[in-house]
Amino acid sequence: MRIAVAGGTGTVGRHTVEAVQAAGHEVVVLSRSQGVDLVTGHGLEAGLAGADAVIDVASIQTLKASAAIEFFTAATGNLLSAAADAGVRHVVLLSIVGIDRIPYDYYAGKVAQEKVVEASRVPWTILRATQFHEFAGQMFERAKVGPLHLAPNART
Ligand SMILES: NC(=O)c1ccc[n+]([C@@H]2O[C@H](COP(=O)([O-])OP(=O)(O)OC[C@H]3O[C@@H](n4cnc5c(N)ncnc54)[C@H](OP(=O)(O)O)[C@@H]3O)[C@@H](O)[C@H]2O)c1
Repeated sequence: MRIAVAGGTGTVGRHTVEAVQAAGHEVVVLSRSQGVDLVTGHGLEAGLAGADAVIDVASIQTLKASAAIEFFTAATGNLLSAAADAGVRHVVLLSIVGIDRIPYDYYAGKVAQEKVVEASRVPWTILRATQFHEFAGQMFERAKVGPLHLAPNART
């Protein structure tokens, strides 16, 4: 199969690309560094040409709910619309356990993203995973005010 991995250069995306290739499939990576912008839709049509399936592991580095909702709604909305037009047969979204129960700003974006997928014309699967080991390092980099790094009061 030809499988498009949106966010295939990211933390999760790099492992996803390796796993897809190891399973004998052809991979096309959709990310800005590969000339595809999910938010504007630039390059999506060409990137999805001939794709059988799509895995969405794209993300935005933000701790603001408004930015997360805006990104995930636009990016996944454009991706799914282009996937439907390209005749893609299945879309897999990576989501996170507990996003609808924990009032964490980034999770508001993931909840909005799941709703976009659930309304899609393309058959879909949403996989909710728990945090990966890299998450601790990501939080250390992102949750900071000047020289201070904040440790969020959250169970993961
Ligand atoms: N990290 C975890 O512990 C964890 C756990 C469970 C679920 N997840 C989910 O897994 C997904 C990936 O998370 P991650 O931590 O791997 O993210 P990440 O390391 O920040 O990677 C984000 C990816 O998205 C791409 N991207 C960002 N903006 C884009 C745009 N406008 N157009 C196209 N591509 C864009 C980036 O590539 P470019 O910069 O080249 O565009 C990169 O490949 C997210 O949905 C997250 O919620 C993560």
